[in-house]
Amino acid sequence: MPALQLLSGLTEIADVGRDRRRGGYSRHLWQAADLELRSWFVERAERLGLQVETDRNGNLWAWWGHPGTDAVVTGSHLDSVPGGGAYDGPLGVISSLEAIGRLQASGFVPTRPCAVLMFAEEEGSRFGLACLGSRLLTGALDADQARALTDHDGVTLAEAARKFGLNPAQLGADPDALARIGLFIELHVEQGRGLIDLGQPVAVASSILAHGRWRLTVTGQGNHAGATAMAQRRDPMVATAQAIVGVQAAARSFPGTRATIGRIEAIPGGTNVIASSVHAWLDARAETDEETRLLVADIEARAQQAADQNGCSATLAEESWAGAVQFTPGLRERFAQTLGQVPQLSTGAGHDAGVLAAHVPSAMLFVRNPTGISHAPEEFAEAADCVAGIDALELVLRDLL
Ligand code: GLV
Ligand code: MN
Ligand code: MN
Repeated sequence: MPALQLLSGLTEIADVGRDRRRGGYSRHLWQAADLELRSWFVERAERLGLQVETDRNGNLWAWWGHPGTDAVVTGSHLDSVPGGGAYDGPLGVISSLEAIGRLQASGFVPTRPCAVLMFAEEEGSRFGLACLGSRLLTGALDADQARALTDHDGVTLAEAARKFGLNPAQLGADPDALARIGLFIELHVEQGRGLIDLGQPVAVASSILAHGRWRLTVTGQGNHAGATAMAQRRDPMVATAQAIVGVQAAARSFPGTRATIGRIEAIPGGTNVIASSVHAWLDARAETDEETRLLVADIEARAQQAADQNGCSATLAEESWAGAVQFTPGLRERFAQTLGQVPQLSTGAGHDAGVLAAHVPSAMLFVRNPTGISHAPEEFAEAADCVAGIDALELVLRDLL
């Protein structure tokens, strides 16, 4: 089958959720683009004769044959970061559907249940918490805490879920759904340069860095931009700017760690107004849980110092946490036997497969990204490499099913 036909799914959704202002795609939970992608997924899955159901947390399952326990489940997500690329998430969903289509076309008959799983809000772009669907499914996220999450407009997750057609009281751990997953496989575009350096199209994931999100709030004194002498200011913007420089310095002082402020919000946010407070969201990651905690403690100390120097106060509140993940060794070995000389790569990106790994055997396949860029419009994968990824997924599904 020609490569372009195999990747027709990417073409079919190429215009959904394009963000003209930021560039790339903005596809956020239960908003117009996400709803369109969900309909597309249902239609695509039904074309293969799969039966689609929505679970209590808004994750979509497409079953090949009867739903059951010990299922081989594969999939990813369709939502994006603000202004994200075309491949992060959709490549895994489309490859899963393509691999099943190929197995069907070859007359293969599975000996265990099989499903494609599309997770809700993997990026946390609307409600701030990454891997929302998988954390809810597994019970890693408390249902009351989830229901109270708010989006940029102050809409709660409970309200948004109701509007979508879910019962908010039923959000949360779904042991029956979890018990059906015998193992989970997520194919994903690589979000780094590992495969470029190795000159290979496909890798098996070995581990994920520990990571989390924290909200830094710096409070000063709102005031008039023209009437307040420079010496009389308690300006939280200046303190936040110094704290952000401190974030970079802290991460550089712990080799191999990563720390980012990618989003800030000034309150009240007027050009002629000295802000009264500033929120800045920190994403911090490191090889181990301990190192990540040490990094964040160092960042917090630097932020306090920056606040003190400017007559402000600062607090750092944890919004989410994901410990380091080692993917299931047995599955990695089995993939290596099935796929031959395939490299194993660690990643700094979080994934639903990482959340599931604490509960069921989980594995990932990475497809080379020749730009090495992700969470940005430049994210890319060559058609031939995408086909190599589908080839690998088909082989491991054939082996496991
Ligand atoms: C998700 O892609 C993350 O790593 O934040
Ligand atoms: Mn992502
Ligand atoms: Mn992803």
